[in-house]
Amino acid sequence: MVKDRYDIVVLISGRGSNLRALVKHLQAANSAATVSAVVSDRADAAGLRFAEEEGIPTCVVPRNSKTLNNQEFNSVLADAVNRLKPDLVVLAGFMRIVTKEFLQRFPNKVVNIHPSLLPAFRGLHAQRRALESGVRLAGCTVHYVAEEVDAGPIIAQAAVPVLPGDDEDSLGERILAAEHKLLPAAVLAISEGLVTIEHSGKSAKVRLDASLSTDPDAKLASIGGTL
Ligand code: GAR
Repeated sequence: MVKDRYDIVVLISGRGSNLRALVKHLQAANSAATVSAVVSDRADAAGLRFAEEEGIPTCVVPRNSKTLNNQEFNSVLADAVNRLKPDLVVLAGFMRIVTKEFLQRFPNKVVNIHPSLLPAFRGLHAQRRALESGVRLAGCTVHYVAEEVDAGPIIAQAAVPVLPGDDEDSLGERILAAEHKLLPAAVLAISEGLVTIEHSGKSAKVRLDASLSTDPDAKLASIGGTL
């Protein structure tokens, strides 16, 4: 059953352009899903200022590696997120590794956006590595978060061309424009109960509701700007 309220907690570390795209899209769609809080590991994250302007509660869980190791940081982070009672946790440019213990607190509720067509180019500088590798299609992926970095059942992907003359900035901007469409579309579909995880032994994959395959815009799987 689709609930009349669906609270999304977004974790960021910086600019927050995906956060902005998500908030604006959910508002425009008049969705029951809303970004109910934004959590950052950096007090100077620009995305926090956007959230404040929108009247969205914010919280900073600073990562000070001198006092907290990653396990301890994740434990404090999980406590902070848990207090916000999220239906979904979205990592939108959150540049910390979340641990198994964090994920166990929010089973099947943590998704991430990554600027590559996973499983290619996991980790940092995905756009630069795509360019250097000579691939002709780059893109972005929204996936459920697993223990391994930038891995886990894929929900949605968008591909963009790598064009002659591209540099890291121009390719990065094209991928980011696709991210701004893909993440809101994926989150909306999840909030509407159209995305389920199917487990089979140790592996898992996402099943999308059949209604999404007749979506004329093919919003969760798209090529070259048809998002
Ligand atoms: C986005 O490109 C996102 O895909 C990437 O960080 C950027 C955040 O931008 N995330 C990762 O690389 C995670 N592995 P934003 O703060 O403007 O949304």
